[in-house]
Amino acid sequence: MAVNTFNEPKLEPLSVGVFNGKGGVGKTTITANVAGLAAAAGSRALIIDMDPQGNLCRDLGYEPRDGSELFSALLAGTTPPLITNVGGREGLDVVPGGAALFDLSAVMISRQQRSTGATLGEMLLASIRFIEHDYDLIVFDTPPGDLAIIDAVMEIVSAVVIPVRPDDASIDGLETIAARFQYAREGDPVRRIPAANSFLQLAGVLLFGVGSRSTKLEAQVRGSIAEIIGDAAPVFDSRIRYMESTAYDARHRGLLIHELEIRAEDSKVERFAALRLGHKIHDALLTRNASGLAEDFQDLTREILIRLSELAELTEHARHQAELAELAVQQADQLGEQEVSA
Ligand SMILES: Nc1ncnc2c1ncn2[C@@H]1O[C@H](COP(=O)(O)OP(=O)(O)OP(=O)(O)O)[C@@H](O)[C@H]1O
Ligand SMILES: [Mg+2]
Repeated sequence: MAVNTFNEPKLEPLSVGVFNGKGGVGKTTITANVAGLAAAAGSRALIIDMDPQGNLCRDLGYEPRDGSELFSALLAGTTPPLITNVGGREGLDVVPGGAALFDLSAVMISRQQRSTGATLGEMLLASIRFIEHDYDLIVFDTPPGDLAIIDAVMEIVSAVVIPVRPDDASIDGLETIAARFQYAREGDPVRRIPAANSFLQLAGVLLFGVGSRSTKLEAQVRGSIAEIIGDAAPVFDSRIRYMESTAYDARHRGLLIHELEIRAEDSKVERFAALRLGHKIHDALLTRNASGLAEDFQDLTREILIRLSELAELTEHARHQAELAELAVQQADQLGEQEVSA
């Protein structure tokens, strides 16, 4: 009997999910800025907001949605809602999430109890199939605690990015994600659940919100990461520095960090002009200079894209090897049958 162990990668474009089991570790900020920079550099990028909190709208400056359009599209297997060139950003589209997604896990539990129908990952994939060919890159923002949504995204992406903040809570959140990652890749042998996505890869763990001189702390965090996912766990060389007021300005104005960098330069000129005239500036930026943080995101985006394309090559290689293995099994089967009949 030929065993088909060949589990296809699911999405055609490069795809990555940003995960951590804990909140407030930078998932949404990273999703928005990495996809935004990739689009600014000429990629056709799509962000899918799978978080019921729908915070992504703040980072990109669009009106919040209630998530019901995406919820209905997932259940009906139809085209997801789409905001194209979001906020005038050429090449950056968004599938908006929102509070209706809170109901997804309950719906999935009742479907499972009736043991009918597809998994949430399969439903998500069916809906994205309508639009995936328009993109080079798809980035998923995910919620911190909703395992149904986390598992569904892990089922269909090629790679995982895990931001951690230098605190114990976010390291615990990394542990949760490491467990779901293993579950998606290898299934659960005890409960005889097969792997949902054996092509899933860890793109890397990212240190988020670290002080520029906190090398000791950083070493400690790297040590904890190695304890959880092993020494071989890739940790990105790039890191995102701690800059609370810049992060506040960006979200408050719906600007990505590289956009805020330009705005901060402009506002410097305005400030000097106002000072000379003795005018007061209302709603002034807290940020004086966003260049350092903008550079961090540029470095990170570059590193993630390089890593994704390396992983895609590996997958091609793995796909080729799986095909060869399958062929070998078929040949062995045929040989066995010939020997039996001889
Ligand atoms: N470089 C930075 N330095 C300090 N704070 C930052 C930085 N970037 C973002 N923040 C702030 O950190 C907070 C959490 O960020 P974000 O919303 O991206 O995290 P999250 O992991 O998506 O959270 P949730 O799990 O709630 O969705 C936000 O208030 C954001 O403004
Ligand atoms: Mg978020």
